[in-house]
Amino acid sequence: MAQEVRGVIAPGKDEPVRLETIVVPDPGPGEAVVQVQACGVCHTDLHYKQGGISDDFPFLLGHEAAGIVESVGAGVTDVAPGDFVILNWRAVCGRCRACLRGRPWYCFDTHNAEQKMTLASTGQELSPALGIGAFAEKTLVAAGQCTKVDPSVSAQVAGLLGCGVMAGIGAAINTGQVGRGDTVAVIGCGGVGDAAVAGANLAGAAKIIAVDIDDRKLETARSMGATHTVNSRETDPVEAIRELTGGFGADVVIEAVGRPETYKQAFYARDLAGTVVLVGVPTPEMKLELPLLDVFGRGGALKSSWYGDCLPSRDFPMLIDLHLQGRLDLGAFVTETIELTDVEKAFERMHHGDVLRSVVVL
Ligand code: APR
Ligand code: ZN
Ligand code: ZN
Repeated sequence: MAQEVRGVIAPGKDEPVRLETIVVPDPGPGEAVVQVQACGVCHTDLHYKQGGISDDFPFLLGHEAAGIVESVGAGVTDVAPGDFVILNWRAVCGRCRACLRGRPWYCFDTHNAEQKMTLASTGQELSPALGIGAFAEKTLVAAGQCTKVDPSVSAQVAGLLGCGVMAGIGAAINTGQVGRGDTVAVIGCGGVGDAAVAGANLAGAAKIIAVDIDDRKLETARSMGATHTVNSRETDPVEAIRELTGGFGADVVIEAVGRPETYKQAFYARDLAGTVVLVGVPTPEMKLELPLLDVFGRGGALKSSWYGDCLPSRDFPMLIDLHLQGRLDLGAFVTETIELTDVEKAFERMHHGDVLRSVVVL
């Protein structure tokens, strides 16, 4: 039987979000209903509300979540009712050209639940944020969006791996391939950049230089493992990073802002044959101009990081284990826990740069 639960809806462009009763269908083939225990508030949720991602209102917001599988549809074998899972927004297909070549973290045909959740009052179909929609007591997803992890971790910490924190850690360890002894610079130290700092730390980087325009962010970055900090409002970050790396530049520079000027800084702050990782997401009107000779002459790799190039089935359980062993402090990303009714206020705090993550706990 379909169930009615409470969920946070973005009803229209720039309208305040509100709590509504939503209808969650029983899981069909390949689907699962998950009882959400915690869901972080991400910039992408705000972008949905602002109409910056698509016009398919109303949206059911929330996508950084963990919870318990309540029921599964026909043919689901990887997860079962009672499993503690982290939700991911790139359920790999196993059949596309990327998957078939053994590179499923690039999967070009990721999928979501086929059935739609609806608004109880009007019957209108909801568009779940990133195919998840987890600011809700329960949500319907594709079973492949559920990744089982050690249930002894708290849900508010686990859910963070579902988006921003995974993107940042993955930018360092998967995309940037940071290794022992590398010098790393991270430009932009919000939740994603801080996670990149933590990832570089985990990978054994010798030097981790955090760059931001906000001293509060630099302080947090230090607690995540940054060995040096640069306020780029006061100091030229390219010069500073070169100075801190024997005059050469860093082996890997991670751009976690998503702007042309910070990308240029990343490009010139890396050593010859170094790697630039772009994990910040630009907007459509942004353009980049670089001398092509510099692109050639400086060599190395210019990479983008999609969702940290993560493979949830490989990376989520591993990172949760490292967290439980005390080797990765995921708890440090949770600034505050809030209720479903507080999402609008959390957007404001996020907008002012006051939080790394507000996490809705259900
Ligand atoms: N130079 C350096 N740092 C900057 C600059 C700049 N010109 N402009 C902004 N920043 C810093 C902010 O002070 C903040 O600490 O970048 C950080 C951005 O952090 P958040 O706004 O918290 O965003 P976050 O969640 O970390 O995401 C960063 O990654 O996944 C993408 O869409 C996401 O593009 C966004 C980026
Ligand atoms: Zn695929
Ligand atoms: Zn997100």
